[in-house]
Amino acid sequence: MIVCLCEGVSDREVRSVIRDGALDLEAIGARCGAGTCCGGCVDLLEDLLEEADSTPHRCMPQHVPAHRFGAPHAAAAAAG
Ligand code: FES
Repeated sequence: MIVCLCEGVSDREVRSVIRDGALDLEAIGARCGAGTCCGGCVDLLEDLLEEADSTPHRCMPQHVPAHRFGAPHAAAAAAG
């Protein structure tokens, strides 16, 4: 969904820049342009910032295979 009509920026793009460290309106605008023209999307941008702030962060790094976090005792028991 497009959240910033002036700059043609989608909610996915805004979520992406927030995940990459844009933690306020100024940083979002600097990275993707959203909110830098008429300001009509600022409320939506603030909602996305709040959403990101209240979303639980994952504990596991994305680049580590899931089996590395498996039950170590079960794996040891299976190995003998
Ligand atoms: S709609 Fe985003 S700056 Fe105008």
